[in-house]
Amino acid sequence: MSERTLILVKPDGVRRGVVGEVISRIERKGLKLVALELQNLARETAEAHYAEHADKPFFGELVEFITGGPLVALVAEGPNAIKAFRQLAGATNPVEAVPGSIRGDFALEIGENIVHGSDSPESAEREIKIFFPELG
Ligand code: CMP
Repeated sequence: MSERTLILVKPDGVRRGVVGEVISRIERKGLKLVALELQNLARETAEAHYAEHADKPFFGELVEFITGGPLVALVAEGPNAIKAFRQLAGATNPVEAVPGSIRGDFALEIGENIVHGSDSPESAEREIKIFFPELG
């Protein structure tokens, strides 16, 4: 069944110049791009996106990081898009992400792990509305 997922190339990925590489991997996998935009997040948008982490000790750092430079937000669509992208991304902690995955190839630290991908259909629906209200 076709589904949509919200993907971010976070500010570290934009700074590192791997936006094209990430998009290329998404396309090679067979996922279709539905929306794509360079965005500078307002603090409120970042806090809404990461609301489930609001009580975590790293929340402040996370919001500072994600608002610290432009990011690329995109929506990709295809069969099992959510799981497919999480597999491309690799484990959240780059030291556990296997080589060949985006984080396994490009990242070293959990706080700067290059990409974000929705983790469930419910998260995808919520996150797509935050970054692309017009797709709601
Ligand atoms: P992401 O998939 O964007 O969702 C939540 C983010 O919190 C996660 O990727 C990590 O980048 C970040 N994160 C998780 N744990 C930590 C931590 N211990 N320290 C800093 N950032 C973290």
